[in-house]
Parts: sequence; structure tokens; C-alpha cells
Amino acid sequence: MCGIIGITGRDDALEHIMAGLGRLEYRGYDSAGVVIANSSASGMDDGQLDIVKRAGKLANLAGALQGGSLTGRTGIGHTRWATHGAPNDVNAHPHTDPSGRVAVVHNGIIENYQALKAGLSEREYASATDTEVVAHLVAEELDRVDGGDLLEAVRRVVGRLEGAFSLCFVTLDAPDTIVVAKREAPLIVAHADGVGYCASDVAALIAHTKQVSALHDDQLARITPDGVEVIGLDGSPAEAHSYEVSWDLAAAEKQGYDHFMLKEIHEQPQAVLDTLRDRLTDGKLHLDELRTDEHELGRIDKVFIVACGTSLHSGMVGKLAIEHWAGVPVEVEVASEFRYRDPILNPHTLVIAISQSGETSDTIAAATHAQDQRAPVLAIVNVVGSTLARQADGVLYTHAGPEVAVASTKAFTTQIVGCLLVGLYLAQVRHAMYASEAEDTLRRLQQLPGALEKVLELDGQIRDLADRYKDVHYTMFIGRHTGLPIAYEGALKLKEISYLHAEAFPAGEMKHGPIALIEEGSLVVALAPEGHVFSKMVSNIQEVKARGASVIAIGTEGSTAALAEHADHILTIPEASHELASPVLSVVPLQLLAYHVAVALGKDVDQPRNLAKTVTVE
Ligand code: AGP
Repeated sequence: MCGIIGITGRDDALEHIMAGLGRLEYRGYDSAGVVIANSSASGMDDGQLDIVKRAGKLANLAGALQGGSLTGRTGIGHTRWATHGAPNDVNAHPHTDPSGRVAVVHNGIIENYQALKAGLSEREYASATDTEVVAHLVAEELDRVDGGDLLEAVRRVVGRLEGAFSLCFVTLDAPDTIVVAKREAPLIVAHADGVGYCASDVAALIAHTKQVSALHDDQLARITPDGVEVIGLDGSPAEAHSYEVSWDLAAAEKQGYDHFMLKEIHEQPQAVLDTLRDRLTDGKLHLDELRTDEHELGRIDKVFIVACGTSLHSGMVGKLAIEHWAGVPVEVEVASEFRYRDPILNPHTLVIAISQSGETSDTIAAATHAQDQRAPVLAIVNVVGSTLARQADGVLYTHAGPEVAVASTKAFTTQIVGCLLVGLYLAQVRHAMYASEAEDTLRRLQQLPGALEKVLELDGQIRDLADRYKDVHYTMFIGRHTGLPIAYEGALKLKEISYLHAEAFPAGEMKHGPIALIEEGSLVVALAPEGHVFSKMVSNIQEVKARGASVIAIGTEGSTAALAEHADHILTIPEASHELASPVLSVVPLQLLAYHVAVALGKDVDQPRNLAKTVTVE
């Protein structure tokens, strides 16, 4: 979604704002802009807010800035993913009031902007955006507040806004001040070495500082070279969530790989190892954060898992693990549907929200709906200090490190591990499993990183398959039990980065309709790892082969003989240390297949069309 960075207190503010926007590019955007509070050389109060903004990529903005005279110690930058108004120069942020007194950038949606617009006297609006209305409102308030205090003016306006937003303002009245406000869209503030910072994502700031603070909903902050002051919507002093960023700048770069996606696929052994690390205290499993009574979790009698996209697929594995180990019924729900269907919730229903970013609007809304019904929420997230992590009653962090590519890979495999850990944890607190059993299972999971390294050795074979099948315009993925979530994930990976059609079905459903699609030359990818449904998968492979399909089978070392009789290609993975852990291994060949097909087709692998890394709007 939109990216924000603000800097106050350094002479080369523009240079660092542009560099920060560069680190936010992965979030997906379609225009960009900057504003510098550019006091005049004479230092008189006839300074101005210099704004430059352009549709398209950052290079367009950089071109427009070439040789410009934008100097100044305070400024804000923005990359926009259009929600209201087409992606063009006019609708790009920042936006100002008609007099150019206040400039604002915004991430999110102001849901009542039309009503607010109607309440303003007849005005000229330069853009079709909801954001511009906010600039008008704040400029109007500045005339009313004592001493033109920008923080107070913004506080009064924010109280009238509905929707999700992170807002960042500068004004002529206080050229060394940035004011920010946050509700449901992430915003980080920081102060280091006499410089104040704000950003929508730590990636924009870690070149400057790792000590940051994440604002909570309905908090505002005044940022100056002297420090950061945080208040609540009522104007009283407030505390943001301060923490140290564990990632370094290098971790956020490609480190020699052609694409972030390939780097992140190859980071999975380490990511899984890090996610499994330090999970036992005195022989007992624990969560990273718990803000509810663990005994309450022991009394749950129903679980919902809510998530979107790839994270939803990890939840499908979570269902199998929790039902198997903890003996609790689990429903897996698309987060964007959950709150609209009146789910039956009570304090004995646990809602598990899975999100890499911890900022996905629909998943946060589902968690909020659960908590409104007094059902505890447990979050499995990858970003420390994210909105979902701070909102949930319990948190299990995946430790995948920054995932930059839009197509989620290492976050997915660590989410599966997170789901397995939660399954074992719930079994433990429900006394459905002895601690020694949980410890033994956890020890078996420690074999996954080594097994993943072996799966990655398939890269060359998979690249050859990608070259062979890159022009196939429809691929069917089929699986059963732990293979089914991976079939769904494999189809999503292929379609989201290669733009080729792909679908997934429960293999047992083929005869109820989908097999009608199979004809000479069809391509079918079959998940057939060792397990209690293996023989059924062999039958399904025979069915599609008999109708002319080419079959790529994912099989397990030592049990591919039956596959060799029917499949055209076998991608052999190590036997998983537990059947429920096999998805961690079986998904990787499909990640690589999607990656190499997309590369072969010349697609923008890390920033696929129409997609954003984090969907912070409904
Ligand atoms: C998957 O490759 C996509 N990037 C997308 O489906 C993603 O998983 C989904 O938007 C959920 O994001 P989250 O995990 O950050 O909540």
C-alpha cells in the first residue's frame, strides 16, 4: 500500500526522503511525491512548501526533481497506491489547502470525506482524493487554534474522520515540525542524533535508527529535531510501542539474487530455524506474547482461523494440526467474509489471525469483530509491533525476517511452522498432549531446515520444467489432506506472478466436475507426498494421465516408484519428520516453478501488476 517517510532536522532531508521512498517501493504504488518546508534563504517567514509529485515510478519523480532547488531541513515523501482518484500527477500526494499553508500525505481511506467536503464552504479542489479534504480541514482549524498549533489543529480534525489512515502533515507556520496521526494503518516515529523521523514501515528508517516507536490507533505525534511528543485523541500524553528493529539494512536488500522472491525462497531454511528457536521454557511451549489467561485458552471449545491469500492457505494446515493434536474443531475462514456472516463467537472460541504484515485490513477487521464478541484472538504475524500483533490477546511471531517480494514465500513456510507450534501449544494447555510428546514433536520439526536445503537443490530441474511449460495457459493443481493447502498455494503463486490461469481442487473432487477440463496437453501438478492418502493420489494421477494430461508430481524420497509409472515428471522431496510438516517441504518446488515461469515470461516478479505487498484497505 502507500508508503510514507518524514524527516525533520537535517540539511539533506530531500536526499534521505527519496532514499527512504526507494526502500518502500516494494509496497506497490502508482505515483509518488515530496514536500519540503523550504524556508526562504533570508530565513524570513515567507518560506514556502515546495511540492513535486508525479504519476508512475519513483524515477519519474526523481527526474522532475533533477537540478531543482528543493532545499530545506523538513519534508515528507509518499508513494501512493490509488484508492480514490486515478493514479496521475494531480491525485499524487502531498495535497495542500488552497493557500498552500498545510501539506499532507495519507495512507488509508477517509470514509466520510464526502460528508466533510459538503460541510466545507464552497471550495476549489485540485484533486479527486479524500486526502485533499483533510488539508482543507486542518488549514481551517489552524486559524482557530492558539498560536497556529499544528498538533492541536490536526487533533481536532482527526476526531471528525472515519476510516483507516496514517496522516503526515507539514505547515508553513512551523517549518521544523511534522505532525502525524494514526488509525488502523501503520505509522512509526523515531528520533536520533537531533533528527526526527516518521514512516509507514521500518524499512524506510533502519538506515538511520533501529530504535523506533509504533503509534497505537488514535494516537498523534509532534516530531521536531528536538524529539517526539505523543498524545491521544483526547490531547493527553500517550505512550507508543517502542522497540528495537532486529533487521539490518543488508537483510532488506537482494544480496546478490536476481529478485527478492528468489532470495526469500532460499532464506526459508534459516527462517524456519529461527521460527522454531527458543520455543520451550522448562520443557513447556510458550507464545511470544500473551495478554489473556492461559487457563482460558485451555477451556476453548472451538477455533476459527482467519486470514487472506497465502496466509489463509497456511491456516488450512493449521486446521489439520490443531484438530489432530489439540482435539478442537477448527473452521478456516476468508477474513474478508468472516465479519459479514455472523459467526458464532464467545469467550470459549479462539480466533487465530494469520498475517505476514500484521496490517491486512480484512484480517484486522476480523480480529476486531472477534474481540468485540469477547472471543480471544491469537495472532501469527511476522512483523513485530504491527497493528495485529499489538491488538491480539496472544502473539506467536514468525521469524522470517523482512519479506519484500509481493509473492509470499518464506512468510508462508514459517506461518505453517507457526500453526504447528500453536497446535502443540493448544494441545499442551488443554492437556491433550503430554509436555514430553510436544517436546518430542518439536524436536522432530528441527529436521525441517536441513530438509529444506535439500529441496532447494531441485532448482535446476524446476527451471527446466518452467522453460518447458511456460506457455501452458492453464495449470491444474490437485492434492489431498496436507497436499490440498499446497495445491491452493501453488496455484496462487503461479497466477499472481506469471498471470497464467491456474486452479486448485481437492483431488477427490476431480470426478465431480473438474476432470472435464482435462484434455490432451493439459498440465496437472499433483501433490503426492508419502502419507495416508498417497495411494489415492496415485489413482488421481492415473485418471488425468488417461485423459492426456502431462503430470508433474511432488513425491517423497523412497516412495516415488508408484509415481514413476504414471507421472511425466517427479520432483522428489525428503520425507518430512511428521506428516503435518510435509507442506513446509512440498510447497517449495511450486514456489520455484512459479518463479522460473514468471522469469521466463519476463514478468515483474517482485512487484506483479495490480498487487501490493500489504492490503491495508478493504
Ligand atoms: C501472497 O503471495 C500474497 N502476497 C497475498 O495473498 C498475501 O498473502 C495476503 O495479502 C495476506 O497478506 P498478510 O499475510 O500480510 O496478511
